[in-house]
Amino acid sequence: NTLIKDIYRNPDKYYDTEIQVSGWVRTVRASKKFGFIELNDGTFFKNLQIVFEETLENFKEISKLPVSSAIIVKGILVETPNTKQPFEIKAKEVILDAESNSDYPLQKKRHTFEYLRSIAHLRPRSNTFSAVFRVRSLAAYAIHKFFQERGFVYVHTPIITASDAEGAGEMFRVTTLDLENTPKTDDGKVDYSKDFFGKDANLTVSGQLEAEAYALAFRKVYTFGPTFRAENSNTKRHASEFWMVEPEIAFAGLKEDMELAEDMMKYIIKYVMENAPEEMEFFNKFIDKGLIERLENIVNSDFERITYTEAMKILEKNKNKFEYPVEWGADLQTEHEKYLTDKVFKKPVFVTDYPKDIKAFYMRLNDDNKTVAAMDLLAPGVGEIIGGSQREERLDVLERRMKELEMNDEDLWWYLELRKYGGTKHAGFGLGFERAVMYLTGMDNIRDVIPFPRTPKNVEF
Ligand code: 4AD
Ligand code: MG
Repeated sequence: NTLIKDIYRNPDKYYDTEIQVSGWVRTVRASKKFGFIELNDGTFFKNLQIVFEETLENFKEISKLPVSSAIIVKGILVETPNTKQPFEIKAKEVILDAESNSDYPLQKKRHTFEYLRSIAHLRPRSNTFSAVFRVRSLAAYAIHKFFQERGFVYVHTPIITASDAEGAGEMFRVTTLDLENTPKTDDGKVDYSKDFFGKDANLTVSGQLEAEAYALAFRKVYTFGPTFRAENSNTKRHASEFWMVEPEIAFAGLKEDMELAEDMMKYIIKYVMENAPEEMEFFNKFIDKGLIERLENIVNSDFERITYTEAMKILEKNKNKFEYPVEWGADLQTEHEKYLTDKVFKKPVFVTDYPKDIKAFYMRLNDDNKTVAAMDLLAPGVGEIIGGSQREERLDVLERRMKELEMNDEDLWWYLELRKYGGTKHAGFGLGFERAVMYLTGMDNIRDVIPFPRTPKNVEF
C-alpha cells in the first residue's frame, strides 16, 4: 500500500507504475462512461484524484459510492499537466472495503464550527479540523524537540495532587465519598480523612511546584501534560481541561525566563510552518488572512518588554476606550491586553513586574515590596498565552507571604523545604498549549483546537 503523502512528496518515484492506495472517499462525480473520486487516506492534507471508467466490473456501484466509504484502489499513477491536480490514478480495480451510510453528516457543503462541535467524533475528517489537529500534533512534537535539544529533562508531574499550586481555589475535587451522605465534622465540614487518599485531593491546576523540585535536581526541566481548572468562565479562551508546558530553570531569573519563552515560541512557529506548509496555506486562505505574514514577522522580530506600571501608563492615556477600569493595582483585562498587542506594539509583548496582590503566592517579591518578578506574554489576537515568574527562593519571605494570604502551609511543607537545601534562584513559565495552537492556526475558539473539549456544561463525548 502506498501512502498519499509519499506520492505528493515524491511523485517521480511512482509515475507509470502500478500502485495500491486505500482511504476514504471525499467526493464522487460520475457520468455514464467514467468518473472521479477524491480520496483522502489520512496521511496528507490533500486528496488524491482517482479516475475510473466503465470498464470496471463494479462501475455502477462505484459511481454511486456514499461519501466517507473506505475503498482500496489499484491502478497507475499518471501525470496530468494543465489540470488542477498534478497527477491522478487511473483505476484498474476499486474494492469497496467499508461502505458508508448515505446519511453521513459531512457532505460537501460548508458547516458551521458550532455544528461540527456537536459531531466531534467525525469533525477530524473535515479539511479545517484535519489541518488543526495535524498542526496540534506537530506543535507538541516541536515543544519536546526544543527542550530535549537544549538538555531539559521531561518530568511527569502528578495529575492527582493534594495542593492548590495557584492558590486560586479552582480545583476539581477527586473523591470516592458520597458527599451528601458522609457524616460531617463538628464545624460542618466533610471529613476527608475517611476518603480514598485519607485527605482532600484534587486534579492538578499546574505542575509547577513539582517541577521546581525537579529543577533543583536537574537544573533544567519541563512538564507537558493535562491541567484542570474549574473556572466557571465561558469564554473562547478557557477550557476546563487543557494542556500546559511548564519549563523550570535553576540559576536563572526573570530575564533568562523571558529569553527562553521567546526562543521557544519562535521555534514552534518555525517548525510548524516548515512541516505543515499545506495546512498553513489553508488557514491563511480560509481562516485568518494574513496569518503567515504575521507569524513570519514574529519569528524575525524581537518581542516587546514593558513593565506593568508602564503598560498602565499607556492604558490610562486611553482610558475612555475601555469598559473595565485602568488604575494601578487592577488586573489587565482581555480588552487591555488586545489594545497593547494589536494597537500599540503589533507584536507579542512581555508585561513584567505586576502588583503582588494580583499574582500567585510563589512569585519573587521585588525590592519595592509592591510588585513581583512576574511575566505574562501577550500575543496579538489571543491575549495571555504564557504566564511565568522568578520564584521566591527566600524561605522567610515566602513564609511571610503565605501567612498574609492565610494559606495552609501543611500541604506545602515539602515546597518550603526546597528553600532550605540549596534553593538557588530559579524561574519558569507555563504556556497554554491550546492558546499556542489557536495562535498558530488563527482559530478563534479554544473548543476548536481540542479534539474532545471540556468546558462548563459540556462533557458530551
Ligand atoms: O498563568 P497561569 O495560571 O500560570 C500557571 O499556572 C503557572 N503555574 C505557570 C508557571 O509559571 N509554571 O497559566 C499559564 C497559562 C496561561 O498563560 C494560559 O495560556 C493557560 O496557561 N491557561 C489556560 N488555557 C486554557 N484554559 C484555561 N482555563 C487556562 N488557564 C490558563
Ligand atoms: Mg496567568
